[in-house]
Amino acid sequence: MSITGNSRRRFLRNLLSGATALALAPSLLHGESAFAGDPAAFARGLREHPWLAGWKSVQSESLGPSAIEVEGRLPDGLAGTLYRNGPAWTERAGFRYEHWFDGDGMVHGWKLGDGKLVHQARMVATPKFSREQKAGRFLYPAAGTTVPDIQPIRNNDDANAANTSVLTIDGRLFALCEAGSAFELDPDQLTTIGPVTWRPDLASVPFSAHPLVDRDGSVWNFGAISLMGGSGLFVWHVGADGKLISGDVLDTPVRGYLHSFAQTDHYLLFALIPFDYREGQGAFFERLRFQPEQPLGVAVVPKNAPATARWFEADFAAIYHFGDAYERNGEIVMRAVQHEDIEEARSPMRPAMNGLAQAHGGEGKLRELHLDLRSGKAAWRDTGIASIEFPLFDPRNRGDRAARIFAPTIEGAHSAPYFNAIAAFDVERGRRQVHRYGEAILAEEHVFVPRPGSSRADEGWLVGTLLDSARGHSGIAVLDARRVEQGPLAQAWLPTTVPLGFHGHFVAA
Ligand SMILES: [Fe+2]
Repeated sequence: MSITGNSRRRFLRNLLSGATALALAPSLLHGESAFAGDPAAFARGLREHPWLAGWKSVQSESLGPSAIEVEGRLPDGLAGTLYRNGPAWTERAGFRYEHWFDGDGMVHGWKLGDGKLVHQARMVATPKFSREQKAGRFLYPAAGTTVPDIQPIRNNDDANAANTSVLTIDGRLFALCEAGSAFELDPDQLTTIGPVTWRPDLASVPFSAHPLVDRDGSVWNFGAISLMGGSGLFVWHVGADGKLISGDVLDTPVRGYLHSFAQTDHYLLFALIPFDYREGQGAFFERLRFQPEQPLGVAVVPKNAPATARWFEADFAAIYHFGDAYERNGEIVMRAVQHEDIEEARSPMRPAMNGLAQAHGGEGKLRELHLDLRSGKAAWRDTGIASIEFPLFDPRNRGDRAARIFAPTIEGAHSAPYFNAIAAFDVERGRRQVHRYGEAILAEEHVFVPRPGSSRADEGWLVGTLLDSARGHSGIAVLDARRVEQGPLAQAWLPTTVPLGFHGHFVAA
């Protein structure tokens, strides 16, 4: 659907009034507390299982800035800040969120350079967080936990937790969450400037947490209009200067959930996971049920016509994150981490959120979806790589072959049901390099940082965060991306633990 001028404005006005209706639905106004998490039960669990510190609530609005001692040597040329975001404030007034995606976002800045490291972190001061901080209790609906006695909201941003990832465009820093606007932050102080309206008629249209940077520095993103009570996807294209290039509505033939997407040089690729929305009350992820008997709908969207798509049907797969995608011999290959346990996918690490040990959590298989542009057929292929999540790669890779994937993984004994290692996978050459941090260490996403002045793919470093549950501190590690098995060139540790986060972004100084 191509919408221009008045019809577009009318469409978006309807969309926003739909959001208001959704926000004021009685089921959201009168939630039940039957599913409430219990902070005391979590505290008991934490004493028994120190690795649960990864899901412990923060209790102060900011940390640091503080200089941290560096073990080893930071590489010459590595200078800048790793920004990371994740759900951090998960308890108030004897009530604890049960879903990992609910906590309010805390953004960390790990500033590296001249052999030194300075860490600071600050809660994103969304309207939700600020009002709840004042009230001393949760007031607004959450993504996956029913909160009792909630207040009415006017739009998505009244409930926006800004807790999933970060983005920088032209020196501006944004905290992102899939259910609402980007929140702009001061890149030095991490203080909150406010929600971003890319164009006046697009206030509160979701700007999701996994934007993709194109080779020209422009940024693609989507917003799920279903989160506002409508249907379809809003496709954002923002220039490297931070100005909106285009905003299009892409019709979607089926209801599907998506958390992120992939791109080739010519196409955006959206995979819609079929789900049913249960009648009655409850938060979004409490009512959502994935439908494994239904096919995955995959949209191949030309970058030069973002309101149009060619649709493919593939076997069902529960996916949050994609690796690279490329075009070769009339075929598009997109790589994704598939979760076989769809209940775990619906509420990852749910026992941990409740202070309970669990057998496994979070990890999935790296699989490839082959889209044949001639026949219109889609087929999944296994890569043989399992026990990973948060896949990243060097976006300088050529657009016609597979990239090396960098991802946390599980290697050997591990006390937490979580990643304890970082790996680099070259699927086409069948090579795997892994560094195992240790039994008690939880490893998070590792961001690829290109070496300044380099042009060859994978020339650079991995910068990732860790939680050492035996020593009770969180930290950061820097590895050579081509020599992952050699382990960290440098590491540094905070005096305490901080909650595990989701996604980061490195900005060169
Ligand atoms: Fe994500």
